[in-house]
Amino acid sequence: MRKKITVVGAGNVGATCAHRLADKQLGDVVLIDILEGVPQGKALDLLEAGPIEGYDVRVKGTNDFADTANSDVVVMTAGFPRKPGMSRDDLLKANYDVVKGTIEKVAKVSPEAFLIIVTNPLDAMAQTALKVSGFSKNRVIGMAGVLDTARYRTFIAEALNVSVQNVQGFVLGGHGDTMVPVPRYTTVAGIPVGELMPKDKLDAIIDRTRKGGAEIVNYLKTGSAFYAPSAAAVEMVEAIFYDRKKILPCTAYLEGEYGINGLFIGVPVKLGARGIEEIIQIKLTAEEQAALQKSADAVKELVDVIGV
Ligand code: 2OP
Repeated sequence: MRKKITVVGAGNVGATCAHRLADKQLGDVVLIDILEGVPQGKALDLLEAGPIEGYDVRVKGTNDFADTANSDVVVMTAGFPRKPGMSRDDLLKANYDVVKGTIEKVAKVSPEAFLIIVTNPLDAMAQTALKVSGFSKNRVIGMAGVLDTARYRTFIAEALNVSVQNVQGFVLGGHGDTMVPVPRYTTVAGIPVGELMPKDKLDAIIDRTRKGGAEIVNYLKTGSAFYAPSAAAVEMVEAIFYDRKKILPCTAYLEGEYGINGLFIGVPVKLGARGIEEIIQIKLTAEEQAALQKSADAVKELVDVIGV
């Protein structure tokens, strides 16, 4: 039997997610939104692309959570997007209400689902989803590190004029200005990046990575990024469905790992059929640990405001 994936939010991130999921035939897709007609229209359009693209998966648009019942994965993208000049954190209260209301409904009809949270501010929204759903922590996963790392890898590959596939590394911490790219663990075809690039160039890439979301918002003016965010969420769905046991930087609930307790933050995890199967603990220098702690403190401030 085919898997079932619900994408909550039929905006740019959600619709592009649905598109990628159908193209990759990862399962039947339900696209849900509160706007009447939008999920139905986009889903039908995607369904009608099937004969051309060669996929048989069903794509259904709806406003009714009953249609999402028994989903294997729910990708939560609904919420207000960032506008120019707005930080991810400005979105906190408005999107808390959206995530809370949605996850309550989702959890009721899909009690076995994995939740992939994309809505910003992402770490705090993942924490909201965990608390509201009551799901085990391995099934509530935030999409941030894969996106931030993709940006970091893109900029390094571009600067060195090498394939993006040669560039490996990860970004730790919250999905905000305090995120922590870790050059010490960044390699290009196995070569430490520091040997290929002067420090000032790498520092500029790190800075650009931290502001990667805002860079797109400033271009688009009326919305935020969606191609790379949707690709990141779909990579996570794939890792779970194919039990890839892929090590990816994801937003995970920490209970003592990295000295952080009771908080979602971006760390490398092993993603497989049981969701987060392991939190990979790597050695950090005092400076890296301090940067991660600073990022965790920023997430904690948000979480305290909404009380989750
Ligand atoms: C981004 O980083 C909007 O958080 C999203 O592009």
